[in-house]
Amino acid sequence: MIGIFDSGSGGLTVLKAIREQMPSADILYFGDIKNAPYGEKSREELSRLTVNSIRVLQARGATSIVSACNSVSASLAISLFDVLGLAQQNLIEMVGPTVSSFKDFKKPILLAATPATIFSELYQNAFQMLGIEIDTVAIPKLAGAIEFGISTIDQERLIAAVFATRDMKKYGALILACTHYPLALVSFRKVLGDVPFFDPAEAVASRVKRQLWPREVGDGKLRLLVSRDTPQFRSHVAAMLPDASYVIEMLD
Ligand code: DGL
Repeated sequence: MIGIFDSGSGGLTVLKAIREQMPSADILYFGDIKNAPYGEKSREELSRLTVNSIRVLQARGATSIVSACNSVSASLAISLFDVLGLAQQNLIEMVGPTVSSFKDFKKPILLAATPATIFSELYQNAFQMLGIEIDTVAIPKLAGAIEFGISTIDQERLIAAVFATRDMKKYGALILACTHYPLALVSFRKVLGDVPFFDPAEAVASRVKRQLWPREVGDGKLRLLVSRDTPQFRSHVAAMLPDASYVIEMLD
């Protein structure tokens, strides 16, 4: 069984892409809404929450783990694999598959993410190693706003404030490097117009399939766990997975 985790609803974008590419995979999803948002927490706090999420999933039978949260990527250090008894090939995160999608890219890239992701410099280092020019824009508070359902007008204000001084014509792609952001794509489009958005979900799902199929085949069962039950999470699930049958359970 594949275990997927995020601070809340953002990872549903990755879950949806994985189910499309691997419909027969059994999936357990954990949304740590009690501790959301993650994107403005310290590295130490994120490391603690990462270990907790992986343990929650493993304790319920997950044999492979997908981190559908960019903000925790810096905590997924090699030393963790030993501690959690997790082989490296059984863990997939966001940064590697996303950066790999741009291997042959020539134009500068703009990357939008939470302050924690930008601060970790993982994306900046990876793109610089490929010789690709990268600029970043942190959008404080947006992931939390999406998670807890503030109005689209307010979401647009948060987006507009940070992009005000950017010349979008300079960039070949705008990477939405927070899994919550594709849930607000309509607001991004409204503020920025027709720019080349890149949602990493597909690339991550392809990596999951490449690495975990056919080992992780099952009956396509889906179970969602939350550390706090909210109507917003339930409506995000219903909107993202309209045809799926699933149960949403509170973590005990
Ligand atoms: N969706 C997560 C990410 O990709 C976490 C966002 C948050 O909780 O601030 O970074």
